[in-house]
Amino acid sequence: MGPHGEELESTLLQRRSTRAFRGEAIALSELAALLHFAYQPAAYGAVGFNPDPDFFAREHVETFVAVSRVEGLEQGCYYYAPRANELRQIRFSAFAKELHFLCLGQELGRDAAVVIFHTANLEGAIARWGERAYRYLHLDAGHLGQRLNLAAIRLGLGVSGIAGFFDDAVNEVLGIPLAEAVLYLTVVGQPR
Ligand SMILES: Cc1cc2nc3c(=O)[nH]c(=O)nc-3n(C[C@H](O)[C@H](O)[C@H](O)COP(=O)(O)O)c2cc1C
Repeated sequence: MGPHGEELESTLLQRRSTRAFRGEAIALSELAALLHFAYQPAAYGAVGFNPDPDFFAREHVETFVAVSRVEGLEQGCYYYAPRANELRQIRFSAFAKELHFLCLGQELGRDAAVVIFHTANLEGAIARWGERAYRYLHLDAGHLGQRLNLAAIRLGLGVSGIAGFFDDAVNEVLGIPLAEAVLYLTVVGQPR
């Protein structure tokens, strides 16, 4: 195992779900690194990681990022375009209060620096793959969530998966297209 493998191993051993955030900002470079590790696995082949991890239908899982506290990035909601590795702003507003509500009143949502929404066009996926797509897309979202978790732990940030949220309200508040069903959330911030 090379040096990167050893670092990955120690990160795996440290991996935890953070239980509370301080409500402070993360750096734009940290957000960029998280997204890059989760969505650009091909870039990590050179250091000995799997450059082509298995997904069911990764192209059906979309990513929206609600930004509350990122130095150098305006608050609002962004679409993450994986091919371009680019954030595109779709809403211009501060959402911390709404995120608290959308996460069923969980403080993790309110105090997070960013809340990452894993979504899928379920109708399109089911038309293409049948009803079992519903199950497999959640596994894909979980896989992406755990990559984000590992990257956050490696950077000394706090992170948690969140399955408790108001499904339909999320789309309305954040401006996520209604066809995109929210599967799962990842919250990231400064750990308390
Ligand atoms: C799919 C999923 C959904 C979760 N939903 C929530 C949640 O809504 N609220 C919360 O506080 N933690 C949530 N968690 C975090 C779990 O509580 C945490 O992962 C669990 O306690 C195990 O701890 P560990 O990740 O440190 O091993 C979720 C985790 C996963 C994987």
